[in-house]
Amino acid sequence: MNIRKMTIGAVMVLAACATMTAENSPPVTLKQAYAGAFLIGTVMGKPPAREAEWHLLCRQFNSITAGNCLKPKPVHPAEDRYEFATADVVVKMAHEQGLVIQGHTLIWHSQCPDWFFRDGDKPAGRELVLKRMRDHIATVVGRYAGKIQGWDVVNEVIDSGKGYLRETKWLAAMGEDYIAEAFRAAHRADPRAKLYYNDFSIERPAKREKALRLIRELKSKGVPMDGIGIQGHWELDKIPYQDIEDAIIAFHKEGVDVAITELDLDVVPRRVTGAEVDARDAAGADPYPNGLPAAMLQRQADQYGKLFAIFYKHRDKISRVTIWGLHDGVSWLNTWPSKRTNHPLLWDRDLNPKPALAAVLAVPVAAAQRWGG
Ligand code: XIL
Repeated sequence: MNIRKMTIGAVMVLAACATMTAENSPPVTLKQAYAGAFLIGTVMGKPPAREAEWHLLCRQFNSITAGNCLKPKPVHPAEDRYEFATADVVVKMAHEQGLVIQGHTLIWHSQCPDWFFRDGDKPAGRELVLKRMRDHIATVVGRYAGKIQGWDVVNEVIDSGKGYLRETKWLAAMGEDYIAEAFRAAHRADPRAKLYYNDFSIERPAKREKALRLIRELKSKGVPMDGIGIQGHWELDKIPYQDIEDAIIAFHKEGVDVAITELDLDVVPRRVTGAEVDARDAAGADPYPNGLPAAMLQRQADQYGKLFAIFYKHRDKISRVTIWGLHDGVSWLNTWPSKRTNHPLLWDRDLNPKPALAAVLAVPVAAAQRWGG
């Protein structure tokens, strides 16, 4: 355990508590509470719609993930055309505020245009797809070199079923080597950037074993890969706490950094587990259109608190925890896997803090008190 790191964080939290004011918002912000432990991020796929959202983000967070605006489909819709307008604004806003920026994502089966894989009316061969991949990564990563601190280079390529790798167009065109090639290309474009493999459900033992295999294979080939992102799209009452803790320890043992990259806590029951973006739930249940009952808000708070207690305990292994959205109104879980009114985050639609925020803020305070701070 890194005692020095813990002590600095604890002292900051206690100092902030001592200056409590009567104002409505909690006296300590997320980034203050976790200072010295890990970065606290949220996703920003485009500039926030309301000024109050941007203020809240800057006050509470010290990191953003530039999400949708950097995915291949929006950023590189045709082979000879890049669309950087939105990403440029997002990166500029965040950079000027001193937020640590994560880029998401370079290689993914979803939100990726088909031109990468076509050669006229036939499928493109390996060399052509490799060249396009290298051009794409060199251009996108190169453009933001020095501003974007880390990249989710490869996203969700482990198979959720019995196989090792997901059957994607990248795999079909290039073979298993495409993963290593993507990391190498990203490293060439910005040697200082931290490079991550990112996926959902890799805390679960079956998928975790495959992620460990991938890390080992890449390391044995000397591929420049720095870390692993556990997405963290979990569901209320179904959080696999023990698996999460085991996975953090196991990935750390392989010598890679661990980040929690897309945390949210779905409160609407669904039939789809994990975060398979193409999955759709036809049931369309929408049980909380007018808000979440107080008892559920409290349950959600307790479970967020338990999760952050695990993250905080392992802060020597974790560099960042990113929550997938600033407030309930902008969560992707309002439309996936079906349309519903969801409440998975720490602030509600009116930007009021939910009980979950207090529970998350309480974690370092409780730890400091245990240490006699
Ligand atoms: C989601 C975005 O939040 C949505 O706005 C978009 O429509 C679909 O993608 N795993 C990932 C993210 O790696 O890129 C996904 O983000 C959520 C699941």
